Amino acid sequence: MKNDNMLRVGILGCGAISQAAHFESCIKAENIELYAMCDQAEDLLKRMAEIYPCEKTYTDYDRMLNDENIDAVIIGIADQFHVECAKKALKAGKHVFVEKPLGVSIEECEELKKIVHESGLVLQIGNMKRFDGGIQYAKKFIENEIGEVTTLKAWYCDSTGRYQMCDNVMPVIYTSKKIKRPAGNPKADREKYYLLGHGSHLFDTAKFLVGNPLNVQTKFIKKENMYSWLIACEFENEIIANLDLTIAVRMDWHEGFNIYGTKGSVTGKTYNPWFFKSSEVECWNESTGLVTRPFEPDGHFYRRQLESFADVILKNAPMTGADVDDGILTLRALKATYDSVRMGGKKIWLKDAGGSL
Ligand SMILES: NC(=O)c1ccc[n+]([C@@H]2O[C@H](COP(=O)([O-])OP(=O)(O)OC[C@H]3O[C@@H](n4cnc5c(N)ncnc54)[C@H](O)[C@@H]3O)[C@@H](O)[C@H]2O)c1
Repeated sequence: MKNDNMLRVGILGCGAISQAAHFESCIKAENIELYAMCDQAEDLLKRMAEIYPCEKTYTDYDRMLNDENIDAVIIGIADQFHVECAKKALKAGKHVFVEKPLGVSIEECEELKKIVHESGLVLQIGNMKRFDGGIQYAKKFIENEIGEVTTLKAWYCDSTGRYQMCDNVMPVIYTSKKIKRPAGNPKADREKYYLLGHGSHLFDTAKFLVGNPLNVQTKFIKKENMYSWLIACEFENEIIANLDLTIAVRMDWHEGFNIYGTKGSVTGKTYNPWFFKSSEVECWNESTGLVTRPFEPDGHFYRRQLESFADVILKNAPMTGADVDDGILTLRALKATYDSVRMGGKKIWLKDAGGSL
């Protein structure tokens, strides 16, 4: 059901994430109108507009930004282009929803932050796990019942079986010979590519649940095509943490967390996102002696994150998605993780991290 007041959105990029998540999410969202889409690959754009009807199509991003009917853009393009395209949108007076990670260099993201603040517009990052009902329940339990958090263990381990599983459940993903790609091949450096692509979820979920990470000390191993990071961290409020990022484990998708507090504990199991299934969470409250295990049937976190983005703009609702500060902190954590490996596992403070991945 559509509301009367809707956010008119233009999507930049007709690639995999838009096809698998954003087009459908805009059409299903109660408060969004899929008004326009843009891709320089004209054949792909035409095909997408046939599947997901919208008012306007553009091959030129600047022209889409000149369309005064558009309130906000969704940026679903390669990481290396995020900041440049987000800046342009803000300068054109459009709110921005940009895919994760926010960018690839800390400096470019700090620069973007200034523009976000000057503009007074909303910028939200596509860390959709914040809109997983199970994870949201865990967050509330942590805020209200767990006492003081002491310890976090979190893991994000992609599975070698993932491509087959995704292929089975995702829509057919179309491409074109004319798509715009970053110079070189950023995917060739798997270490950076996996940190940006997957590590950005691991750190953002951890931050969402227990607060800001302060430093990292990393152990890393690469064998054949398997990359594994074990990251010892300190978070604010003296929380100690161990994070495991492994791409890819020889088992099913393996993602989740254990969190210990002085008055309770939480465990969570998160599924491959393309199953659209909320995390299974168990919260143990020591004083009641009860374990609660919520059932959250709406696992369409891609739609939910866009509805929330639209509510922030249309209704001045509180921002629960990742904002520019969250995006910068995550990038700092990822760069610090990368640098720590290079320095033999040295402790790196996020505030000292700089440069790009
Ligand atoms: N949140 C998630 O679960 C999730 C999952 C997958 C990918 N992602 C993110 O989504 C982003 C996009 O990934 P993808 O695999 O869809 O990318 P992609 O390269 O498959 O698609 C990008 C499309 O955008 C177009 N494009 C790029 N710049 C353009 C410009 N300036 N003007 C016009 N067209 C332009 C390209 O032609 C291409 O068709 C990445 O940042 C990735 O990290 C997020």
